Amino acid sequence: MGSVTDVAVKKLPCLPEGTFAQKKPTVVFVLGGPGSGKGTQCAKIVQHFGFAHISTGDLLRDESRSGSETGNMIESIMKEGKMVPAEVTIKLLQKAMQESGNDKLLIDGFPRNEENRAAYEAVIKIEPKLVLFLDCSEEEMERRLLNRNQGRLDDNIETMRKRFKVFKESTLPVIEYYNSKGKVRKIDAGKPAEEVFEDIKTIFTSISQVKHCFCVIL
Ligand code: ADP
Ligand code: C5P
Ligand code: MG
Repeated sequence: MGSVTDVAVKKLPCLPEGTFAQKKPTVVFVLGGPGSGKGTQCAKIVQHFGFAHISTGDLLRDESRSGSETGNMIESIMKEGKMVPAEVTIKLLQKAMQESGNDKLLIDGFPRNEENRAAYEAVIKIEPKLVLFLDCSEEEMERRLLNRNQGRLDDNIETMRKRFKVFKESTLPVIEYYNSKGKVRKIDAGKPAEEVFEDIKTIFTSISQVKHCFCVIL
């Protein structure tokens, strides 16, 4: 029988904030213009840092292929380069987050406007740890999108220009909002993908470091 003097000191990872039962995942938003390399860099972050990647654009494309009424509505909005109503996107995002089973999530292409952000705050309510902003010139993004070759209906010059406009008018203010809260890490995304990732690595290495604390077990 142990007494209070039989003390075992073990080095354990510090517990994150929150209760045991309701441990919230670490959320990183990945934003940037169309073609800035969000998907490309997210794949690298997944490989190196064990995050799960949730692309809201992919969730919407999957839903649009379902042939449902909502799916058809999503397809016509995406073809126009416009924003899908947040109530639709947030439901798909919430489901994907619940099903991911990962405690570190990269949310790509969201929140894209104030409506997305308000829906996230009302429904999901998990403060993002960081917002990764892939900053790239429109000229370079245009070149990349025209070479993407994924058969996307929105990668044509007319729709791309509309998407650039939406990015400037609706997404940049969201990035500015998070910047005012000290959350934004801006990366020069105009460089070759491997060089961009070197800069991202520095950021993720610092947030992924497991801090240790000493727990006294009686
Ligand atoms: P986003 O998800 O931001 O729209 P993607 O990751 O799909 O962008 O990249 C768009 C296209 O540009 C893809 O064909 C991709 O291979 C290419 N690409 C991504 N990053 C770079 C880069 N740093 N330099 C050159 N091409 C890139
Ligand atoms: O991020 P991605 O380029 O895949 O997004 C493609 C399109 O999906 C956008 O142009 C927009 O029509 C739609 N979208 C949206 N809301 C989001 C993400 C994507 O309406 N949060
Ligand atoms: Mg993408």
